[in-house]
Order: sequence, then C-alpha cells, then structure tokens
Amino acid sequence: MKRIGMLTSGGDCQALNAAMRGVAKTLLNSGEKVEIYGFLDGYQGLIYGRFRLLSYDDFSGILTKGGTFLGSSRTPFKTIQVPGPDGVDKVAAMKQTYYKLQLDCLVILGGNGTHKTANLLRTEGLNIVTLPKTIDNDLWGTDMTFGFQSAVDIATAAIDAIHTTAASHGRVFIVEVMGHKVGWLTLNAGIAGGADIILIPEIPYDIKKVAKKIQQRHERGSRFTILAVAEGAISKEDALLSKKEYKKKLENYKYPSVSYEIAEALSKTGGFDVRVTVPGHTQRGGSPCPYDRVFASRLGSEAGNMILRGEYGFMVGYKNREMVKVPLEEVAGKLKMVDPESSIIKEAKMLGISFGD
Ligand code: F6P
Repeated sequence: MKRIGMLTSGGDCQALNAAMRGVAKTLLNSGEKVEIYGFLDGYQGLIYGRFRLLSYDDFSGILTKGGTFLGSSRTPFKTIQVPGPDGVDKVAAMKQTYYKLQLDCLVILGGNGTHKTANLLRTEGLNIVTLPKTIDNDLWGTDMTFGFQSAVDIATAAIDAIHTTAASHGRVFIVEVMGHKVGWLTLNAGIAGGADIILIPEIPYDIKKVAKKIQQRHERGSRFTILAVAEGAISKEDALLSKKEYKKKLENYKYPSVSYEIAEALSKTGGFDVRVTVPGHTQRGGSPCPYDRVFASRLGSEAGNMILRGEYGFMVGYKNREMVKVPLEEVAGKLKMVDPESSIIKEAKMLGISFGD
C-alpha cells in the first residue's frame, strides 16, 4: 500500500492536469494498492491540512484542461521558515500533515521557488518527487519544462496577429513576452513569429542599436518592425548597476514594464510610431498543446514509476530526449538561462534578427 500526496505550487501553466493524470494513472494501473491525497492551493494545503482523497474519476477527462484542478498559490521560499501573521511554523506544519496522513511520498509540481521548498522538505526527511512545471523553461537539470511549448504557441500567435496590423500602419510594435528573468519564451516565440528584434535578459540591449536596426529596415523599404521583448529585458546601462542601484531605479519606475520604457526611448530618439502589446497571462492559459500533453504525461508516468520503485529525492527531468532523475539538491536555487554564445542565438543572428547588442 502506497499513500501519496500531490500538490501544484507557484504560477500555473498548461498541462499540470495532464502531468498529475500521468502520475495517478501509472500508480493506479500498477496493481499496487494506492491512495492519492490532493492538497489544495499548493503548499497552503499542506500547511493548513486542506486536502481531498482523490479517486480514479478525478483524473479522468483532464488531459486537455489547462490550469490545475487542485488550485495553486505562491508560497515564497524566502519566508517559508518565518512564521506567518497567524504564527504558524510552516515547515513544521507541512511535516505534521505528511506524517499524520502517513504519506510515503509527496509529488510536487512546480517551478524554481517551488523546488527550493521541495528540497528543504527533502532535507527535513520527507520523501519527495517533483515535476518541472513552468512556461519560463528556466529550471536547471532539464532541457524542457512542461507548459513552455504551449506558451510559445500563444506568444507566437500574438506576434502573428500583430504582424498584419503593424504592416498596415507602418508602425513599430513591441510584443512583451513573459519568462521572468530568462529569455527562452521570447527567443522561441520571437523566432517563430518572425520578429525583427528580440530582446532578452541574457543579452543586455543598447537602445541606439535597436533604433539603428529599425532605421535600416525603413531604409530598405520595410514599413514596419516587430520587437519581441522579454519582460525581464535589460539595457546595457542597467545591467552595469549594482543590485541595490537597480532596485532603487525600479522603486521610482514610471513605466508599467520595460517595453514601455523602450517604446518611449524609441519614439524620442528615432521618432518612430511605437505601440506595445502585452499578452500577459494568456500565455499561461487555455488548453495544453499536443507536445505538452505528451511530454507532461511521460514525465508523470516516470514519476509514478519512481514512486513504485521507492526512488525519492529527485525531479524527473528531460535530457537528450530521455527522461532522467535529477537530484533535488542540484535543481534547487539554480536558473537555466539562455547562453548568448549558443548556436540558437548565432543562427537567429544569421537570419538577420537583432538582439540589440
Ligand atoms: O513563472 C511563470 C510566470 O508566468 C512568469 O513568466 C511571470 O513573470 C510570472 O509567472 C507572473 O507571475 P504572477 O502570475 O504571480 O503575476
């Protein structure tokens, strides 16, 4: 008999349900007697003992559904060891729930912050298996995270839609893409959408070079320019600031986001007619794309298998087209960023895409 807990934590994404279904079906079809408890709203459910005993039916018909049927929330790692306003010791409470339910293992689906807490729980003696969830694709130890390809599709569709209106009006358009501190989503959607300029955090931009690229396009007869800008894009000047100085800049920031700062700079310096489009959370919404359905199902199935074998303390990752076990201590606290020297960047540049560097 295995008793499993399951939770989804952090920002949601497509294919969370598909991944949980993969774990559950593998366990429930194994012939072993299994009980699965679903914790509601991420770590909050584990802390406050809010859970449901799940049945086979809970995992039926959810392969194509976006979001997470368990609910999710952000429970920041930096305050996980600090009692909340209600005085609750969160780590002790999570352990108490785990032992009270006599769980054999907790399956945790999440991104970077979630993995730091998952690893902490591992060091506290709990059996943990995790799955790499995030549209940002920034988790260390895996080539791919689920949710990413679905978000690429949506961000690409946004760029595609902007193309026709930008062409009609001869405007410069910025499409701001999510991705937190990394540029994977912007890079992929930018290339797929045929963006002329792609600005990502890993390659700080020079606004004069961005303006020059637009100017060159206009001189060559192109009436419009599309920029795919990562929400975390940063100028060369800002990249030189210390963490403290940059934080201070953001405290007095008058723009809703970096795209508006870039738009203003381009209007002022180049006299361009610039518009900004922010698809925002639509990038995390809707049904998972077929790739993510397959990928999340495979990850879930591997997690189920690991639990059946009693292998704990790992994230299921994906390397060179194979599923791999990545020790949680290797994943926690590290970011997987785009390498500015990687071949995809070089190829994009050969296609004529400017990174503003
Ligand atoms: O990590 C996923 C993500 O969508 C990031 O791309 C984005 O920066 C962040 O979450 C938005 O967070 P929230 O949903 O809390 O506004």
